[in-house]
Amino acid sequence: MKHTDIAKVLQDKAVGQSVTVCGWVRTYRDSAQVGFIELSDGTSFAKLQVVLDKNALKIDPECTKNGASVAVRGKIVKAYRGDGVELNAEAVDLLGKCPPEYPIQKKRITLETLRTIPHLRLRTNTFNAVFKVRSVAAQAVHRYFHERGYYYINTPIITASDCEGAGEMFRITTQSWNAKAGSEEEYDKNDFFGEKAGLSVSGQLEGEVAATAFSKIYTFGPSFRAEKSNTTRHLSEFWHIEPEVAFAELPDIIEIAEEMIKYLIRAVLEECPDEITFFDSFVEKGLKDKLNHVLNSQFAVCDYTEAIKILKEAKEDFRYPVEWGADIQTEHEKYLTEKVYKKPVFVTNYPKEIKSFYMKQNPDGKTVAATDLLVPGIGEIIGCSEREADYDKLVAAIRERGMNLDSYKQYLDLRLFGSVPHSGFGLGFERFVMYVTGMENIRDVTLFPRWVDNIM
Ligand code: 4AD
Ligand code: MG
Repeated sequence: MKHTDIAKVLQDKAVGQSVTVCGWVRTYRDSAQVGFIELSDGTSFAKLQVVLDKNALKIDPECTKNGASVAVRGKIVKAYRGDGVELNAEAVDLLGKCPPEYPIQKKRITLETLRTIPHLRLRTNTFNAVFKVRSVAAQAVHRYFHERGYYYINTPIITASDCEGAGEMFRITTQSWNAKAGSEEEYDKNDFFGEKAGLSVSGQLEGEVAATAFSKIYTFGPSFRAEKSNTTRHLSEFWHIEPEVAFAELPDIIEIAEEMIKYLIRAVLEECPDEITFFDSFVEKGLKDKLNHVLNSQFAVCDYTEAIKILKEAKEDFRYPVEWGADIQTEHEKYLTEKVYKKPVFVTNYPKEIKSFYMKQNPDGKTVAATDLLVPGIGEIIGCSEREADYDKLVAAIRERGMNLDSYKQYLDLRLFGSVPHSGFGLGFERFVMYVTGMENIRDVTLFPRWVDNIM
């Protein structure tokens, strides 16, 4: 169909021009003489006001129903109020009618209710804004790395190795539910690949393969985790941005992570002004100031040992105990970012026991050169480390964890043949979108969220 995007009509303000626009009716109101359709085609946050002269134009009443899809031909005129434009309709054609059972009506619907209709919730203001920001941020990710000479690589989704070693891989199989096998080994042997396979929890291990050939790479794809965490920040399927950089040590990769986060925030502020204003008014008061503050400040860096000291001295009732050697829980992350630093903070040098096998072991023998980037309101958004580049130390770390050495032969080869210091990180894309929009539940920043017991 020949038509013009509403975004273009609103932007160009070509008063006097005739156009055809298509979209869904958001609201309709009228008086004796005139009717007003608020029309949205989703191309812009703002809607187009369509003005109907009821005396001159007879239209199908179905065209005024909430959610109905219509095509409108008319003339662009200066808006009655403000400096925008509206459309004086000359013809309105019904494309698809929308009965009153349509759940998206004028009254406010909670995000929780909207979660039960993922196929329709995108037609609301909130989701229109979330997905505009998400799209702009995704483009900015590619721009950031491309401008700096990184290769964009695609790592396998089906894999035999559990990168994080946390046992959270979804299994994949083509065997029937009652396949006969005398042991787990036999079951795996009979399966499609002849060994155990699953969905990747991270593209890092393959990313390291590419980085030790091309120096600077990044991946941007889905990761899968079968964690049963029923929280507002965990999904079973999330999008993962993972750069890997050869010849980079921990401080170098920290610098890159901070620069990238700021680049993405700047892109969103510049390209989504209407959406950010909306979030600032209705979702997180002060969001714009928060983001500008982040752009203008240097992220804090705090050693894990120091963080434990701060948490021990805090006059807070934490649910989880604070002890050197224990993981920093969400409540602790919130305290550090919201009460102590009031900005993003890199916590560095965690005890090796609570981190993954591939992280570079520090000379103290107790900690690893890893860092998590914590942000106010969410907690961890980035997991990052320098990688162990020493063959023997890596073998020892794999053995200590009772992992199967054979599964990591290729990974170990990278340490045999021209090993180099290298580092990388993983940014959870949905968590980043939450951070820049103020949305509080990760299930509201992805199209069809998957979590334990939920696949709609
Ligand atoms: O900290 P994680 O587990 O680190 C890795 O996977 C490394 N291999 C990354 C790397 O160095 N290349 O995960 C990285 C980030 C987390 O900080 C978080 O933002 C996000 O991925 N993440 C999740 N997001 C949503 N739902 C989940 N279940 C997530 N698990 C991790
Ligand atoms: Mg992590």
